[in-house]
Formats: sequence, C-alpha cells, structure tokens
Amino acid sequence: MRSTIVLGTLAAAASASPALARRQYGTYKPLVTSEALQADITKEGLLEGAQTLEDFAYAYPRRTRIIGSEAHNDTVNWLKEELEALDGYYDVSLQNFFTVAMITGQINAFKVSGSNASASLFEYSASGNATAPLVVVANRGCNATDYPATVSGNIALISRGSCDFGLKSALAGTAGAAAAIIYNNAAGEFNGTLGVPPRPEGNYVATVAISQQLGTGFVQAIAGGANITATIDVTTDIQNVSTYNVLATTKGGDQNNKLALGAHTDSVLAGPGINDDGSGTVGILEVAKALSKYEIKNAVTFGFWAGEEEGLLGSTYYVEHLPANETAQIRGYLNFDMIASPNYIHAIYDGDGSAFNVSGPPGSAQFEKFLEDYFTSAGENFTATAFDGRSDYGPFLDVGIPSGGTFTGAEEIKTEAEAAAFGGEAGVALDKCYHAACDNVANLDLDAFELHGKAIAAAVATYATSWEGFPARNTTVARRSVPRARRTNESRHHRSRRSQPLKK
Ligand SMILES: *[C@@H]1O[C@H](CO)[C@@H](O)[C@H](O)[C@H]1NC(C)=O
Ligand SMILES: *[C@@H]1O[C@H](CO)[C@@H](O)[C@H](O)[C@H]1NC(C)=O
Ligand SMILES: *[C@@H]1O[C@H](CO)[C@@H](O)[C@H](O)[C@H]1NC(C)=O
Ligand SMILES: *[C@@H]1O[C@H](CO)[C@@H](O)[C@H](O)[C@H]1NC(C)=O
Ligand SMILES: *[C@@H]1O[C@H](CO)[C@@H](O)[C@H](O)[C@H]1NC(C)=O
Ligand SMILES: *[C@@H]1O[C@H](CO)[C@@H](O)[C@H](O)[C@H]1NC(C)=O
Ligand SMILES: *[C@@H]1O[C@H](CO)[C@@H](O)[C@H](O)[C@H]1NC(C)=O
Ligand SMILES: *[C@@H]1O[C@H](CO)[C@@H](O)[C@H](O)[C@H]1NC(C)=O
Ligand SMILES: *[C@@H]1O[C@H](CO)[C@@H](O)[C@H](O)[C@H]1NC(C)=O
Ligand SMILES: *[C@@H]1O[C@H](CO)[C@@H](O)[C@H](O)[C@H]1NC(C)=O
Ligand SMILES: *[C@@H]1O[C@H](CO)[C@@H](O)[C@H](O)[C@H]1NC(C)=O
Ligand SMILES: *[C@@H]1O[C@H](CO)[C@@H](O)[C@H](O)[C@H]1NC(C)=O
Ligand SMILES: [Zn+2]
Repeated sequence: MRSTIVLGTLAAAASASPALARRQYGTYKPLVTSEALQADITKEGLLEGAQTLEDFAYAYPRRTRIIGSEAHNDTVNWLKEELEALDGYYDVSLQNFFTVAMITGQINAFKVSGSNASASLFEYSASGNATAPLVVVANRGCNATDYPATVSGNIALISRGSCDFGLKSALAGTAGAAAAIIYNNAAGEFNGTLGVPPRPEGNYVATVAISQQLGTGFVQAIAGGANITATIDVTTDIQNVSTYNVLATTKGGDQNNKLALGAHTDSVLAGPGINDDGSGTVGILEVAKALSKYEIKNAVTFGFWAGEEEGLLGSTYYVEHLPANETAQIRGYLNFDMIASPNYIHAIYDGDGSAFNVSGPPGSAQFEKFLEDYFTSAGENFTATAFDGRSDYGPFLDVGIPSGGTFTGAEEIKTEAEAAAFGGEAGVALDKCYHAACDNVANLDLDAFELHGKAIAAAVATYATSWEGFPARNTTVARRSVPRARRTNESRHHRSRRSQPLKK
C-alpha cells in the first residue's frame, strides 16, 4: 500500500550521488561539515527509505518486520546492500546471533461458562486448547506448594503479584495444569511477558491475563461452591531465530576516536514498525550514505540492531562480543529510536541527569548539550527524556561508553505544556500507532523526521571531525548510576522504556 503523504512542491533530491562526487573530485573528498551533511538529509530520502521498509513488510501476509520474519530479513539484506554500494567507504558486516522469540501468538478463544470473555495473551505462552474447570491457586502462586493437586488437568487461576509471570506459568505446568489464567491485582486489564523459555521451574502452559474484576469474581464464586469451566484456545509459534546486526565502520578516520551510532531494524509482531524504528534506521542510513561523500578525521560505526523489541538483544550481543581494546576505541554512542512520531516532541536523552536524576558516563552530558544547541539553533523547543538504559544505548552505558540521542515520543499522552512547546494535540498519544498495525509510512511526521535526521547529520559531522571539548574516555568501567539490582526482574528481558513488557 502506497503512502498517501503528499510531498507537494518539494524539489527532487539535489545532492550529488557519491559516484558523481568521485567523478567531480577524483579520489579527493572534501572534509565533512555539519552544514553540508545536514543539507544532504532530505524529506524525500527519508520518506523513500521508510517506504522501502513498509514495502518489505506489506509484501507478506503478516505485514510485520519482527525478527525471524521475511521482511526483517529483507531489511537486513537491504541495509547491507545499501552500505556496500558506497564504493568501499565502509567495512560492512553481518553479525549473526540466535534468540528464542515468539513469532506469532493469538488467543483463538477464551470462554468462561461458554461465553466469550476478555483476556490478553502473555508473550512466550505455550500453545494449548483446554476446556476444563478453574482451580484457584493459593497465595500468589509463586511457590510450588501453592498449587493444589486438583490443578492437574484443569486450569490454574492465579493472582498477579510477588513474582514474575513466567514463574507462575512454569509452576502451573509442573503441577500438570492444562492452562493458566493470571488475574490482575489492581484495577483494569493487563498483559506482559513470561520471559524467554526455558526456565528451571518447568514448562510454560497456555497462559492468559484477565482483569482483577473478572478474576476475583471467579475466586469468590468458586469459594461459594460454583464449578466454573473455561476454554483457553491459544496458538503461539516460538522459535529459535537466527538473526543479524548490520555493522558498518568507515575505513577512514581515526579508529581510536570512533563515534558509534545505532537504531533497531526490527518491529513488533503487530505492525511494520515504520516509526519504531524504521525512522531511526533510515535516519542513520541516510547519514551513513551522505557521509561517504566526505573525508573524516574520526572513524564512525553505524550499528543496525536486531531484536531490540525482544530485549535489546542485538546491541547487547554487539557490546558483549566487543573485545575490551575495541570498546575502548569508541568515544561515544548515539541512539535513535523513534524520530518521526506523528504527535511529536523533541526529546533528548537526559545524559546530565538534570531532569531525571540518572546520568550517564562522562561525555553523556556533552552529547545532551550538543543536541540542545542543535534544536536551539534550529529555532525549536526541546525537552528531556529519561536516560534509564531501556533502549539500545543501555548496553553501551553498561560498559562505560557515554551515550546520547533523540526521541519524538511513543504511547505517552501529550501534555498541555508539550502541545504549547511543540504543537500537536494535547491529550493524545505522541505516537497513536505505537506498536500497532498502523505504524506505517502514513504514521510519520516528516517535519520531525527531517529535523531529527539533520540532528544525526550534525552530530556525525561534528564528532567525525573533532572531539574537542569532549572528556577523554575513561576505560575504567564505573558502575552506572542506575543500579543493576533495580532492573533485576526486567533486565533478563528488558526493552526500550516504552515497550517494557510487564514481568510481574
Ligand atoms: C531469515 O534469515 C535467517 C538467517 O539467514 C534464516 O534462518 C530464516 O529462515 C529466514 N527467515 C525467513 C522467514 O525467510
Ligand atoms: C466469541 O468470540 C469469537 C472469536 O473468538 C467470535 O467468532 C464469536 O462470534 C464470539 N461470540 C459471541 C457470542 O460474541
Ligand atoms: C480447540 O478445541 C475445540 C474443541 O475441540 C475445537 O473446536 C477447536 O477447533 C480447537 N482449536 C484449534 C485451534 O484447533
Ligand atoms: C514454599 O513453601 C514452603 C512450604 O510453605 C516453604 O517451606 C518454602 O520456603 C517456600 N518457598 C519459597 C521459595 O518461598
Ligand atoms: C524478582 O522476582 C523474584 C521471583 O521470581 C522475586 O523473588 C524477587 O523479589 C524479585 N526481585 C525484584 C527486585 O523485584
Ligand atoms: C497491553 O497493555 C498496554 C497497557 O499496559 C496496552 O496499551 C496494550 O494495548 C496492551 N496490549 C494488548 C495486546 O492487549
Ligand atoms: C466440575 O465440572 C466438571 C465438568 O463438568 C467435572 O468434571 C468436575 O468434577 C466438576 N468439579 C466439581 C468440583 O464439581
Ligand atoms: C539456537 O540455535 C543455535 C544454532 O543451532 C544453537 O547454537 C543455540 O543453542 C540454539 N538456542 C536454543 C535456545 O535452542
Ligand atoms: C584487540 O585485541 C585482539 C586480541 O589481542 C587483537 O586481535 C585485535 O587486533 C585488537 N584490536 C585492536 C583494535 O587493537
Ligand atoms: C538522586 O539520586 C541520588 C542517588 O541515587 C539520590 O541520593 C538523590 O536523593 C536523588 N535526588 C533526587 C532529587 O531525587
Ligand atoms: C516554544 O515553546 C513556547 C511555550 O513553551 C511557545 O510559546 C513557542 O511558540 C515554542 N516555540 C516553537 C518554535 O514552537
Ligand atoms: C575513571 O572511572 C573510575 C571508576 O569510576 C574512577 O575511579 C576514576 O577516578 C576515573 N578516572 C578518571 C581519570 O576520571
Ligand atoms: Zn524502538
């Protein structure tokens, strides 16, 4: 499906192709400047890249770019080809890794006493098709002793709370349950993840989430002697997926003073992921392509990460497999995850901790200041976004690499103050299509996309030329100001701040 976005009278791309630059200059390339590199980033180029990603997704019935899908593979292969087409400016490689992922999952039927009822599927739920009585599990179902013998062959009804969802499903499995229902311990419906299997306590069973109202209603009825039969018919496809990061490092420039940048190539299952994170992917790709026309002083590495939505998998794999001597070569890392939100804000990671009291390694504050100055000189307002490590910059922070980046917003509701500062609609999500089927090309705001695309260009041109004013890299890894302990139950499967799936 083609985009309905009309570009009106915008001129066709005016910048010279790399091939033309070579014809003009022979092997000579001018030293990159912020102005020149920014000028190379156009709405047309960004939109064309985003359309390519949408086309990949929509070429297949599932219309998604989740890892393991055809369209994610197409994305990876396209990035590699685009980067290799730049006449050897970059060393391009694919970095393979494996991960267990839920590729598809749906509730075919959830009925209680023969009537449809509302439930959400837990990520990594097993498949199952059971019609059986509900059996109430004691306490919060965090201990094998909470599961009565009568759970066997029946459906375990468990309260949320005290431990992670995966433990409850595994203990239900060990107790012989045919399926499990976890009901909320607060008002409303919920959903979440069981966490990547396997786990030592047992095999997961088909597991769904229901509201507190529904769950406590069943518990009371059963206590009053009722016999409630439910149907849980769930199909999931959980696979050990082979996937790839795409890495491109300039051959030129000082490799010991490298700038690294990243965006993630995968979407969630629900949609094609064109803002999240097709926008960041295309943003850094366009800058990588433009940069190849120029000479640089410091090397630049572009990282296109797979599996962010499954828990920062690709970026974590990259950082964990980078030898210490090569980690030390990276002066800083910039992350771009959602930069074209339809009801956007211009947010910058709070590297100095001034807004959220969590700061990054020395240099993070300088990145934040640089980006603040960029928006100021563009005549735009900006705000801070929490620097909590829950996107692909997290693994870089963990090894002491200063980080930064921009973000235009996800499912958060725009405040009145944000509407005053950035326009758009207060009381509406910053990205109403966040993690949804409608996160396609029509979901993008091209003004935001261009502004943030040019921010990437400004940063790359600046740091590829000089690190003046930037603190020396301290390769003695300091513990981050976000203590790991605080992230314990989340870090086994953590995602970006916005997509953090609940584990308990
Ligand atoms: C995607 O690529 C991986 C790795 O090459 C391969 O194992 C997998 O079969 C591909 N998936 C699809 C759906 O083509
Ligand atoms: C119950 O849900 C199924 C889909 O799961 C639907 O096909 C059916 O029409 C629903 N029945 C009623 C009575 O709403
Ligand atoms: C689940 O079982 C019911 C009853 O046997 C059957 O009608 C339904 O088709 C089954 N669902 C699937 C996905 O096979
Ligand atoms: C589980 O319950 C048993 C019996 O009440 C108790 O001895 C044991 O310590 C509990 N285990 C955990 C992990 O809470
Ligand atoms: C993490 O979950 C375990 C149960 O799986 C629980 O015992 C522990 O208290 C939780 N830790 C935190 C920090 O929430
Ligand atoms: C999961 O819960 C979030 C809110 O916590 C909601 O926005 C989202 O739509 C839910 N997803 C599903 C599949 O129910
Ligand atoms: C509840 O109903 C099921 C099926 O109708 C039956 O097998 C089971 O014995 C009943 N349980 C109780 C406690 O009455
Ligand atoms: C996934 O497959 C790879 C390659 O065959 C293997 O090395 C890895 O152990 C597998 N992982 C799991 C969890 O099965
Ligand atoms: C890092 O060390 C490894 C092993 O000693 C070596 O092979 C590699 O070339 C080194 N890399 C750099 C950039 O010095
Ligand atoms: C900021 O964080 C530090 C360390 O975690 C804590 O001691 C301090 O109270 C926090 N300050 C504010 C204003 O929250
Ligand atoms: C910046 O925000 C203020 C309100 O906070 C608003 O008056 C002004 O118009 C905004 N500037 C731009 C360029 O949007
Ligand atoms: C480097 O970081 C370590 C660990 O936080 C710290 O002890 C050391 O003082 C730092 N060195 C410099 C030169 O800042
Ligand atoms: Zn994302």
